Amino acid sequence: MQDPLLSVRDLNITFRSEGRVTQAVRGVSFDLGAEKLGIVGESGSGKSQTGRALMRLSPPSAEITAERMQFGGIDLLRASERQMMRIRGNDIAMILQDPKYSLNPLMKVGKQIAEAYRMHHRVGRSEARSRAMAMLESVHIRDPERVYELLPHEVSGGMGQRIMIAMMLIAEPKLIIADEPTSALDVTVRRQVLSVLQELVDRAGASLIFISHDLNLVADFCDRVLVMYRGRVLENLPAAALGQARHPYTRGLLDSLPRLDHPCDELAVPVRDPAWLDAPAA
Ligand SMILES: Nc1ncnc2c1ncn2[C@@H]1O[C@H](COP(=O)(O)OP(=O)(O)O)[C@@H](O)[C@H]1O
Ligand SMILES: [Mg+2]
Repeated sequence: MQDPLLSVRDLNITFRSEGRVTQAVRGVSFDLGAEKLGIVGESGSGKSQTGRALMRLSPPSAEITAERMQFGGIDLLRASERQMMRIRGNDIAMILQDPKYSLNPLMKVGKQIAEAYRMHHRVGRSEARSRAMAMLESVHIRDPERVYELLPHEVSGGMGQRIMIAMMLIAEPKLIIADEPTSALDVTVRRQVLSVLQELVDRAGASLIFISHDLNLVADFCDRVLVMYRGRVLENLPAAALGQARHPYTRGLLDSLPRLDHPCDELAVPVRDPAWLDAPAA
């Protein structure tokens, strides 16, 4: 079998502050090929910290250990900061919930796309501009000429998210980590953004890690799902099998059915058992 693009074994992330120890991630292991992997779990279960560790963007206070964290031929645990900067710019892209954190608030969005394009391709300004227009069209922005001239605060949440996706995909990353990319959006806009993401991921043949607290959405959108509880992977299963999941935690997440038109951050999980933390991941 071909080596997976990403291979993680026994990832642990611990925070220590003022005598308090938080084990944010405990022994997480998974492989990722050319597929869409969902990571689900209630708030605080370690989804974001797992994603950030892959880009080596954990908070400075985080202690990270792993038996293996391999991306292509690169050992992410031992890569130099310089190598990591190159990887972040070219090979692994991250899409966050709020594009406002990732866009420069003072620069027209079209220009930001054009500049990003010029960082990855040797082209002149006018060529970069028309490429940026094409990128805006590829994320289904109908009037790219007008949108090109807007500042980040002048675009809607859904449009901002599509602009971010366009920018991230310029570099043709091999891996995209999307952390709750649509949680701030309402249902119609969410569908648009997801279909744009899907289209571009499929076209580029990139792998995707899609972090969400919404199991229904992940079941539809992803190929495989990791279910996390208090830093542990409780289940690793095909998305199509999610509906038949046996684990009481997963069942709880499914039964709490967050309504699509009423996104919520925290899911009510009726059953909890400390023994879940010791059982081997299914
Ligand atoms: N900077 C930090 N310092 C201490 N603990 C943190 C920090 N960031 C996250 N944590 C803890 O790590 C755990 C996992 O957080 P996170 O990965 O953000 O959860 P999720 O994305 O699943 O909601 C939580 O218990 C959170 O309190
Ligand atoms: Mg999170």
